Amino acid sequence: METNFKILVLFYSFSGHTAELSKYIAEGAGEIEGAQVEIKQVPELIPNEFFESKPELKKIRESFANIPVAEISDLTSADGVAFGTPVHFGSFASQLKQFIDQLSPIFIKGTMVGKPAAFFCSAGSMHGGEEAALISTMIPLLNLGMIPIGVPYPVQGEGSDFDAGSPYGAVFVSGHKGDKVLSEGDIKIAKILGKRLSAMSKVIKYGCISFPECQFLSSKYE
Ligand SMILES: Cc1cc2nc3c(=O)[nH]c(=O)nc-3n(C[C@H](O)[C@H](O)[C@H](O)COP(=O)(O)O)c2cc1C
Repeated sequence: METNFKILVLFYSFSGHTAELSKYIAEGAGEIEGAQVEIKQVPELIPNEFFESKPELKKIRESFANIPVAEISDLTSADGVAFGTPVHFGSFASQLKQFIDQLSPIFIKGTMVGKPAAFFCSAGSMHGGEEAALISTMIPLLNLGMIPIGVPYPVQGEGSDFDAGSPYGAVFVSGHKGDKVLSEGDIKIAKILGKRLSAMSKVIKYGCISFPECQFLSSKYE
């Protein structure tokens, strides 16, 4: 029996940290047999001129410019999606919101209903709004019928100071100057979240064959 399924790791990143975290989400997702994992970024909305006067930032952005830009079809064809964002003023980035806001036809068709979703973010400070950003990202995806996958205790809290991850998703604190690197705990949590997303996506896609009641999760309710 074929058991291939598709996981999309979709992110916006202004200065590279969320892009970096996405690699580990994808790595974890790839640990489940049959997973076909793709990393894509949503389109930038800030005009090019903004970056022209910021050579350092421009260079950083070139380091992840090779990651393809997503189209709506990448999202609709995926069996599970991880959404990543930097924390921008205590919430998730408008670039990701703009991408999601194109989904009203998808919402009406119910295409994303029953598909698992996971969330990850990067913030400058430990209390800069990570939880608010993760939960606010979750809200539109709940509207689309997706099933959120979190990071349950005791896995969250990995890291030397019991500081990695959160119940709501994977989190990386890049620091005031943005010069921190991912800790072992950050990487571990990101991989576990990706693997949980992948496992649940496979269960929902193929487990329903032998467990018909499960089809209730991903069918239109009439
Ligand atoms: C417009 C803007 C708003 C930000 N707002 C916050 C914030 O509310 N809280 C916080 O901790 N960091 C904030 N930051 C810092 C970023 O969240 C942080 O640098 C993050 O690691 C960037 O991820 P990225 O490299 O993927 O863009 C902000 C950065 C920008 C550019």
